[in-house]
Amino acid sequence: MGVDIGTEGTKALVIDEQGRIVKRAYSSYTFDVPKSGWAEQDPEIWWNAFRSCLGDLWAQGISPADIIAIGAAGQMHSSVLLDETGEAVMNSILWNDTRTKTVCDQILRSVGHERYQALTCNSLLPGFTLGKLVWVKTHLPEVYERIRHVLMPKDFINHRLTGRWTADVSDASGTGIFDVRNRRWQTSLMSELDLPQAWFPPVFESGAIIGSVTPAASEATGLQTGTAVIAGAADNAAAAVGMGIVDRDRGLISIGTSGVVLSCLEEAPSAQKAATQNPTLHVFCHAIPEMWYAMGVTLAAGASLRWFRDSLGHGASYDALMDAAAQSEPGSNGLIYLPFLTGERTPYNSDQLRAGFIGIHLQHKPAHFVRSVLEGVAYSLRDCLEVVQSLNRHVDEFIVTGGVVNSPLWLQILSDVLDRPLAVRSYSEGAAYGAAALAGLSQGFWTRIDALVKDQPGKERVAPSSNVAVYREGYDRYKTYAQSLLHRL
Ligand code: XUL
Repeated sequence: MGVDIGTEGTKALVIDEQGRIVKRAYSSYTFDVPKSGWAEQDPEIWWNAFRSCLGDLWAQGISPADIIAIGAAGQMHSSVLLDETGEAVMNSILWNDTRTKTVCDQILRSVGHERYQALTCNSLLPGFTLGKLVWVKTHLPEVYERIRHVLMPKDFINHRLTGRWTADVSDASGTGIFDVRNRRWQTSLMSELDLPQAWFPPVFESGAIIGSVTPAASEATGLQTGTAVIAGAADNAAAAVGMGIVDRDRGLISIGTSGVVLSCLEEAPSAQKAATQNPTLHVFCHAIPEMWYAMGVTLAAGASLRWFRDSLGHGASYDALMDAAAQSEPGSNGLIYLPFLTGERTPYNSDQLRAGFIGIHLQHKPAHFVRSVLEGVAYSLRDCLEVVQSLNRHVDEFIVTGGVVNSPLWLQILSDVLDRPLAVRSYSEGAAYGAAALAGLSQGFWTRIDALVKDQPGKERVAPSSNVAVYREGYDRYKTYAQSLLHRL
């Protein structure tokens, strides 16, 4: 079984000995936005959603005895701050919350930006967990005093299942206090920043077995006591595994709540090299031993469409929105959407940017607005692609995962804007599938993930169309608008 603890829902999949999907379950939720630029969630909603998915699987005829091993993936970076009993001392501050920008800049000044990059292979971005810890220390000292354990969202589920405090290398990479090159905690930085090492659990490779389901967890979930649980992985690393992206020639594009462009690396780039890149290039450990990846991240990709649906779209269905978007010409007759609903990560690293529609004129109809949202998100992913390509990496093929896969129109726009052929698989739940694939690997059901994924049926390709030129011009305008907004802040 593979589970994905997402930002707007939890997914669970059961796969058989050949890796075929047998059953799936989904439970949705939302996140809180207490202030502009903030995003929070109570960790209990992940546990409740996980239990609800299990209840659904049992109702669909899956027997607990059929589940041999469980792998969890989850949203990256979101802080799970727990007391000694494992209860959350506050809501999780999520990956798309940009409140910590000032704190991150202060940490970088005190540690030295280049030195920080040498120690972690990355710059310190507001989404990362480290800034959240220091923010809580400064703004909520009485809450900070109660912290005894720091976990990532999927580790919270693993702890509830096994009683073990654990982390895996791929999620630990996104904390901002991890030595990505050597795949271990960056303990000297912890001492320097006065963070207790005891808060950070032992770290495993993603496919390692960390324990098994306890009797208490069995009672709460219906799973059998003793079912094996693996360390699991960050959602993007797991999605790369689930889409078969475990070598340097292939890349991943994901549109869930966030948008991601990811390409595998066979070694962590040297600190000097990483330091010369755009600071919003992420370099993290892959969920496969001795592999890393480079990534760019859009904060509000699927989140932009959801926001549109719930506000200007008056709650229309996604299908209805896509039908409306199809009524507009490519390029939305000059309308450009900037997706900065909570600031932006790649390539701007800004907590101040906000979203906008620019270029509205009297010919514009609602259809243009929907289409411009799809196009604006694609332009933002083009920005991510440029940053990933700055490592001089050539990627033969990008495979797409996430909700976008259900929209042929959005996929075509993406292929046109990126001017790249894209491939989709018969399943869109990359992270949950990858977590299940790692769980199966731990039990010896297969020995190679790439071979397993290749054997799964149904891969389709989308090629760039004659609209590439329109979108090249649209992307230029998008960049001009984004940069002029940034310079006026
Ligand atoms: C990656 C990131 C997002 C979340 C989404 O750095 O912040 O893609 O992992 O769950």
